[in-house]
Order: sequence, then structure tokens, then C-alpha cells
Amino acid sequence: MTMRQAFCSFTLILAFLLHCTKILAQPAAAPAQPAGPTAAPAAPSPPTPIVLPFPADGPAQSGPTDVTKILEKAGHFTLFIRLLKSTSVIDQIEHQLNETNSGLTIFAPPDDAFSALSSGTLNSLSDGQKELLMQFHVLSSYIPLARFKTVSNPLRTNAGDNSKYAYQLNVTAHPSSLNISTGIINATASGIVYSDGQLAIYQVDKVLLPWSLFGAKPPASAPAPAPAPTKPVKQSAGTAEDDSPGDNDKKSASGAVSLRGKQNVVLVGAVVAAAAIFCS
Ligand SMILES: *[C@@H]1O[C@H](CO)[C@@H](O)[C@H](O)[C@H]1NC(C)=O
Ligand SMILES: *[C@@H]1O[C@H](CO)[C@@H](O)[C@H](O)[C@H]1NC(C)=O
Ligand SMILES: *[C@@H]1O[C@H](CO)[C@@H](O)[C@H](O)[C@H]1NC(C)=O
Ligand SMILES: *[C@@H]1O[C@H](CO)[C@@H](O)[C@H](O)[C@H]1NC(C)=O
Repeated sequence: MTMRQAFCSFTLILAFLLHCTKILAQPAAAPAQPAGPTAAPAAPSPPTPIVLPFPADGPAQSGPTDVTKILEKAGHFTLFIRLLKSTSVIDQIEHQLNETNSGLTIFAPPDDAFSALSSGTLNSLSDGQKELLMQFHVLSSYIPLARFKTVSNPLRTNAGDNSKYAYQLNVTAHPSSLNISTGIINATASGIVYSDGQLAIYQVDKVLLPWSLFGAKPPASAPAPAPAPTKPVKQSAGTAEDDSPGDNDKKSASGAVSLRGKQNVVLVGAVVAAAAIFCS
């Protein structure tokens, strides 16, 4: 047996093994993909992380984290800072950071997001409502960017009575954006202002208006009460809600599996091609 024959046998066995791994890794329902040497090597796409423009900030300073200072340094959160201070929510935030280990996540709208509000939006609110509005921009745990892929919506905010769960928002992670929905507005996180393992501050492009404060205003978008059905119909609302986190899990799991399948197709292709060159 020559070296070349040995090599050829080895590559063929390797190709066979890789092929088997590929079959095992693929979901049963997935259509078989051609693995011949002529198949164009599909660009192996690694799981894309969510990319936001600004890099995460450096390590935490020693001592209590000064949220005001961080926002001031960023330069364009003047109105947000002013409201955090006038409502005393800044004290609640710093107290929470100081006294708890779960950390905080803040969605910070820049000044132009406040100027984009229709006039009178803020003035129509009482002091208590302004406080709720500010608390609505705070989640009482540290959520790094990558973890938004797996959070289950809706997320509870610092606003309102926790037991009523009235001030909630949904955050959905997409390959290139983090979208936030309150039922009144859809916003996008446009950058990471700060992230240190305990506190995360994301810049959002809109002031997050909670349904509980603004929901009654535009009658057109208020959900129409469903007319009482004459016959009992299958209850879909509850199950839809229960199913959604599971569906997301399934989606991401099968995504990972099919990605592995693709990489193996490329590998099998490469090994077969190498064997073809050496063994002919
Ligand atoms: C944080 O806690 C320390 C002691 O644990 C205390 O001295 C300090 O005043 C607190 N700061 C705030 C902002 O609550
Ligand atoms: C997320 O937000 C961006 C910007 O508003 C929008 O273009 C995109 O369609 C949104 N994605 C989804 C899935 O809603
Ligand atoms: C938030 O997500 C939940 C569960 O997926 C859904 O029932 C609810 O309608 C969503 N709310 C908003 C404002 O998007
Ligand atoms: C927010 O986005 C959802 C779906 O992406 C859409 O149905 C809804 O109308 C949007 N709401 C607003 C206020 O733009």
C-alpha cells in the first residue's frame, strides 16, 4: 500500500464520517443538500451577533456607579437627565445600583427623541405620571445585549405596581437591531452608551411611551373589544402567549442545527475535492 493509497483511503473514510455527522446533525425534515465537489461552497455564516454602533464602555469605576456622570459624558441626554432628576428617579436608580446585585438596564432617549414628541406630551402629565414615564425606561436587572435574544416578553419595568404588571414593554433582538415595542411606539436601540456587567445603558431613538399612560389617547389604535361569541370558540389568546417563548427556542435551536449542517457540507465538499485532486 503506497502512501498515496493510504491517504486516499483515509480521506474517503474522513469524508464518510463527516457525511454521517452531517446527516445526524440535520433535522429529519430538512431537504438533503448536494455535497459534491462541484457544489458552490456556501459562505459559512457564523451566528451573527447583534451589532450596535457604539462599543461597550470600559470597566466599572470604583465606588458607586454615577449614572448622571455617564449620561452627561455622552453629551446628548440633557432632557433625560433633567427629568430623571426632577422626578427623583435618578435617586431610585442609584439606590438600586448600590443596594442590589441584580443590576439595572436603562433605555436612554437622547434630546432629539424628546423634541420629536408632539407638543404638550410631557406637559399633559402630572408629576406622578412623569415619574412613571422615567421608571418605564428602567429595568431592574442588568441585561447585556446578547441576552435580549432569550428574554421572554413582556419585560417588567420599574414603573407601576409590580403585581399589576401594567407598565411593560417588549424587546426583540434582530440580527442588526434591538427593537422595543410599548404598544404605543416602536423604538430601536441605536447604541450602547455604557455596559459594565452591572449597569447597561442603551440609547433608544424614541421616548418610550407606556400604554398605561398614553393608550387611551388615540382611539383608532385602541384594541377593539371582541364581541361576545355566540358559540364557544377555542380560546386562542392564552395559548398563543404560552407558546411564544417555546416557539422562539425551537426557532433558534433549529437555526443552530442547520448552520452546523451547512458547515459540514462545506467540509465534506473540501475533503472530497482534496481526495479527487490527490487520487486522480
Ligand atoms: C451606597 O452605599 C454606601 C455604603 O454601602 C453608602 O455609603 C453610600 O452613601 C451609598 N450611595 C448611594 C448613592 O446610595
Ligand atoms: C426593527 O426596527 C427597525 C427600525 O425601526 C425596522 O426597520 C425593522 O423593521 C424592525 N424589525 C422588526 C422585525 O420589527
Ligand atoms: C408583547 O409580547 C407579548 C408576548 O409575546 C404579546 O402578547 C404582547 O401583545 C406584546 N406587546 C406589545 C406591546 O408588543
Ligand atoms: C409597531 O410594529 C408592529 C409590528 O412590527 C406594528 O403592527 C405596529 O403597528 C407598530 N406600531 C406603531 C405605533 O408604529
